Amino acid sequence: MQSLLDKIYKEVIPMLGRGKVADYIPALASVESQQFGIAICDNDGNISTVGDAHVPFSIQSISKVFNLVLAINHYGEDLWHRVSCEPSGLPFNSLVQLEYENGVPRNPFINAGALVISDMNQSRFASPHLAMRDFVRRLSENDEIIANRNVADSEFEYRARNAASAYLMKAFGNFENEVEEVLHSYFYNCALEMSCVDLAKAGSFLANRGYSKGAEEQILTPSQTSQVNALLATSGMYNEAGNFAFQVGLPGKSGVGGGIIAVVPGRFSICVFSPALNPMGNSLMGMAALTSLTKHINWSVY
Ligand code: DON
Repeated sequence: MQSLLDKIYKEVIPMLGRGKVADYIPALASVESQQFGIAICDNDGNISTVGDAHVPFSIQSISKVFNLVLAINHYGEDLWHRVSCEPSGLPFNSLVQLEYENGVPRNPFINAGALVISDMNQSRFASPHLAMRDFVRRLSENDEIIANRNVADSEFEYRARNAASAYLMKAFGNFENEVEEVLHSYFYNCALEMSCVDLAKAGSFLANRGYSKGAEEQILTPSQTSQVNALLATSGMYNEAGNFAFQVGLPGKSGVGGGIIAVVPGRFSICVFSPALNPMGNSLMGMAALTSLTKHINWSVY
């Protein structure tokens, strides 16, 4: 694994400097763009790293995966009455489908879908953001994971679009709790800071039929794990999901903080971090590194 990571790093590093960091909130716009790290966690629990793999960064939309898993644990199949499992083919914060599809979001990874999932977790937990924080701490075996308050507050200040989609869903009867309360939980989850090592470990159950070696716990059943991986493959990269399937061919989830996690089922989970994004809002170096990965291992889920 180490020689594989070294090869990918060498191949991709000349691209460092391309792309643009997310700038919709000041707290993310000020992140140092010249960072690049990768971590792999194999199904025996071995970790391999290269570059800035231990640097915590804003996980942003990668949190949607763990938020979904918490909801599946409680609601099971009922969850799919409130959110569909179709790719949207649109940017993560688009509102256009929501109106003509009666307030039922296309999938749990676009913002509207993640907000419905957050609404479900709001109904279930006394303190949803602490449930989420404790969940990722357990999966990563790292009790120091915390959310960046500055990022969460800044997201809340610029909440208009997310608030609009939540209120639209409320108008359709697909939102139970106070919108502003759910937004606080959702933004807190997005503002969690984790490193590539933390995220590779946290996502490792997805490569291991639902079993987390770190937490020593069956997180999802094997068939639920296959379903989450299918959703990641079809919707994890928003309007770049097709290109990601074409170039990389793995289930994956990106965040505007510059992280991407991906899963090689039966073998390992991987997290790549580099804050500069491509025009679709996905890490430019992350896309390149994962493209290089599947070329070198000569394997994809397809
Ligand atoms: O809801 C938002 O706008 C952000 N907190 C999350 C955005 C994000 O990471 C989208 N994905 N790449």
